[in-house]
Amino acid sequence: MIMDSQGLSSKKPVVITIDGPTASGKGTVAQHLADKLGFHYLDSGALYRLTALSALRAKVALDDMETIADMAKSLPCAFRQGRILLAGEDVTDSIRAEEVGNTASKIAAYQPVRDALKALQVSFRQPPGLVTDGRDMGTVIFPDADLKVFLTASVAVRAERRYKQLLEKGFPANIDTLRKDLEDRDKRDSERKSSPLRPAADAVMLDTSFLGIDESVQCILDACAEKKI
Ligand code: CDP
Repeated sequence: MIMDSQGLSSKKPVVITIDGPTASGKGTVAQHLADKLGFHYLDSGALYRLTALSALRAKVALDDMETIADMAKSLPCAFRQGRILLAGEDVTDSIRAEEVGNTASKIAAYQPVRDALKALQVSFRQPPGLVTDGRDMGTVIFPDADLKVFLTASVAVRAERRYKQLLEKGFPANIDTLRKDLEDRDKRDSERKSSPLRPAADAVMLDTSFLGIDESVQCILDACAEKKI
């Protein structure tokens, strides 16, 4: 509960966080869940990808934390009808390139970059509610979330999912390279000092290795019903 100046309490809008490793299916599951509930959706990874794309395009040295954090702070981004815009340009597909994802994972390890994106992420918490996915949504950005889910899937299943996703988007892909990149990214995301990838203590764990999208969404809806969300 938060109190206004007259001491009246008002409840913050509902937040459901879905964290997990790369290619665990959290984006698709979160988007479907938000649609079912009629909630807003925030793909927090897109913000790191947008920052990475901006840095790559501006040819900023990837260890120049200050400049990259400044770029993150004033990211000219907009989310409209499922499309992601950067300075008015539709970059929905280009931010999915593996180079952008790997760069995002590198710059996401810098605390100043994470700090620069925090206020923007928190601002997405609007009525009637928010579903958000990422690495630290339940642990750092929304520690008071109404429901926290941690999605996992085996490395083999995740490599296969990412492979199909890239081919569908017209990007070239090699399953062995993908698997290696995925393991490297898991390691970097889990071992970094700033907001490492780990389940919140109160997260519901969901292994989707053998679950389809609809089944995964249903499991989360069941958890919502249990919590009366
Ligand atoms: O699609 P995939 O799960 O590979 O990545 P993503 O969710 O689009 O995020 C890209 C990168 O941003 C990840 O590898 C993370 O290192 C970073 N990230 C983060 O650190 N914190 C978040 N809340 C979301 C993404």
